[in-house]
Amino acid sequence: MAKVVILSGAGISAESGISTFRDSGGLWEEYDISVVCNYDSLVKHEDLTIEFYDKRRAEIEDKEPNYAHKIIKELKDRYKHDIAVITQNVDNLFEKAGMRVEDVIHLHGFMPTVRCRDEECAKVYDIGYKALSSFNDGKCPECGTKLRPNIVFFGEAAPMYERLNAEIQDCQFFVVIGTSGNVIEVNSTAAFCDYAILNNLEASSAIAERDFDKVIYDKASNAIDIIADDIESFLQES
Ligand code: APR
Ligand code: ZN
Repeated sequence: MAKVVILSGAGISAESGISTFRDSGGLWEEYDISVVCNYDSLVKHEDLTIEFYDKRRAEIEDKEPNYAHKIIKELKDRYKHDIAVITQNVDNLFEKAGMRVEDVIHLHGFMPTVRCRDEECAKVYDIGYKALSSFNDGKCPECGTKLRPNIVFFGEAAPMYERLNAEIQDCQFFVVIGTSGNVIEVNSTAAFCDYAILNNLEASSAIAERDFDKVIYDKASNAIDIIADDIESFLQES
């Protein structure tokens, strides 16, 4: 698996105009997680939940990747097998920056897609930025079951975490960009890697700086050149 793992969160998309979750003014200040992003949301608050994701899906249509996405794309192009790009984000900004879908590991789902609710079928359909109900009347073309946002809700299984665990097994160089660490614990990986870099806007109570060799509290688009230089030097020496 990859020598370098770049794990990102909402902060890497903030400069592209996509709201983070826990910063002031973040999404979870405006919406109640337990209503729109919980394992039982589609049962208890179906319309509100569908509407919430329809709005967020429509919102990303005019968002563009920022400099950080572009530099990571260039690094992945240059060091295809040495770098794993893993994100908690459900937006498509890495893909808009030109990365191949198979080269971006989305841990919490992918906003432009919807999924059949029937676990046996579980077919995934790319509906772009449209409302879920506008695609085949909100029903799975394969089996007729209702569709749902292809997003991992709190309390649900997150199958892509297996990919994350596999990638960090051999990780020697760990980069964390734009995540508060509230959902994915990053310190244990940072502690066992040879080198770890943390880039956020400010300190997070869920992340201990002591396990990181370099900590940059600045916008990702300012920090990414420093991070890219360190990754290049590491890969050229290894
Ligand atoms: N550049 C770098 N970092 C930034 C920037 C920026 N321009 N703007 C904000 N940040 C940092 C903040 O300092 C914060 O640490 O991004 C982080 C955002 O944290 P959260 O809002 O908690 O987002 P994230 O960590 O991605 O949330 C993880 O929680 O709600 C769930 O599934 C959702 O994937 C999400 C997960
Ligand atoms: Zn189906």
